[in-house]
Amino acid sequence: MSKQTINLDNQLYNYLLSVSIRENALLQKLRDETANLPQGRMQISPEQGQLLGLLVQLLGAKKTLELGVFTGYSSLSVALALPDDGKIIAADVSEEFTAIARRYWQQAGVAHKIDLRLAPALETLDDLLASNQAETFDFAFIDADKENYDAYYERALQLVRPGGLIAIDNVLWSGRVADPQVQDQNTQIIRNLNKKLHQDERVTLSLVPIGDGLTLALKRG
Ligand SMILES: C[S@@+](CC[C@H](N)C(=O)[O-])C[C@H]1O[C@@H](n2cnc3c(N)ncnc32)[C@H](O)[C@@H]1O
Repeated sequence: MSKQTINLDNQLYNYLLSVSIRENALLQKLRDETANLPQGRMQISPEQGQLLGLLVQLLGAKKTLELGVFTGYSSLSVALALPDDGKIIAADVSEEFTAIARRYWQQAGVAHKIDLRLAPALETLDDLLASNQAETFDFAFIDADKENYDAYYERALQLVRPGGLIAIDNVLWSGRVADPQVQDQNTQIIRNLNKKLHQDERVTLSLVPIGDGLTLALKRG
């Protein structure tokens, strides 16, 4: 019986990948291409992409939201798991990064499922709320700039239906959240959001130690 989550050294992490990852060939190609970018570390890990796909299937999701597209690994993982009439409203500010994402969405035959909004994510979320789309989303993935994480969460909570799921990335922030010596703005923002979520009766909660930490918040009815 184990009291705490196992530590993954490289050997065990590689084993985990070897016995669990069922990565679409294009996802793998995208991961290779992104690894060559200086910002490549922003991409979610393959086991995390696979978990997002599984969650989307588990929810029977059709309408989803993504904040922070980058080169498209998470959106492609979700799009491949959605039914043919499924949708992702995907928000990012970078024309350059999302041009790579668009290329892979096309090649994978899922471009019709993805509505990319090139604007600050807060604007996209406010547009969705203003156009009466509250409680119409099944799933939301939050992975954009950390400064707005709390605002993203609050808006996503309005946009998902009861029983819908919000997944928030980077909640362990490379361990910095647990180090009292670290007091920079982004660390404090994530720490405060984690604290708030812990007490938030509007959701059922699990913080999953996958990738850089992924909080799953299920909206209560
Ligand atoms: C960590 S990356 C996303 C990684 C992506 N989910 C993946 O799987 O590869 C963060 C992204 O957020 C975008 N971003 C930064 N500020 C933003 C904002 N205010 N609104 C929307 N997107 C933003 C960046 O351009 C970047 O592509």
